[in-house]
Amino acid sequence: DGPYAADIERVVVSATDIQEKISELARKVEADFQADASSPLLLVGVLKGAFVFMADFARELRHPTEIEFMAVSSYGSSTTSSGVVRILKDLDRDIAGRHVLVVEDIIDSGLTLSWLLKNLASRNPASVRVVALLRKPDAVKVPVEVPYVGFDIPNEFVVGYGLDYAEQYRGLPFVGVLKPQVYGAA
Ligand code: PRP
Ligand code: MN
Ligand code: MG
Repeated sequence: DGPYAADIERVVVSATDIQEKISELARKVEADFQADASSPLLLVGVLKGAFVFMADFARELRHPTEIEFMAVSSYGSSTTSSGVVRILKDLDRDIAGRHVLVVEDIIDSGLTLSWLLKNLASRNPASVRVVALLRKPDAVKVPVEVPYVGFDIPNEFVVGYGLDYAEQYRGLPFVGVLKPQVYGAA
């Protein structure tokens, strides 16, 4: 149901499966950072897509956190990603000496993340890791290590749970594929 029900062809990851996976991911992160139980982990969400995952993941994580966001955008045409990224909104604070966990909704080509990790690493953090809810097959082409991945999904255009098509569908509680006629009508 909901305002977009008629636009959805198929559910790829259900709301229940997402929430279960977030618990799993949170337990892994907690275990890995147990030695630093008193120092807050700096969660860096990548706007806009990560806002829903960030909200659920941060609330599930039993480890002190500080929440930051960055907004980035690929230069030039959106169809031919050059891997050159522009910062639209930078972090509000210094991350030197901090343990950073980048929170992403999806890794597709991996270009956004690969650029972002280099950029963050240059700021001398104690560590930088990534948690991504979704990963597409092309991501293997980019040499980026992602220790926390929720679901490997097929190479289809998906929306929901933060992911958009023309800025819509981000509020859906699940991840799904749109009916072909939705693209035709846009
Ligand atoms: C999407 C997604 C990731 C990125 C992944 O963001 O949220 O951030 O693309 O693609 P890549 O691995 O090929 O770089 P988008 O640029 O659409 O911005 P948005 O989050 O504001 O929707
Ligand atoms: Mn994004
Ligand atoms: Mg988008």
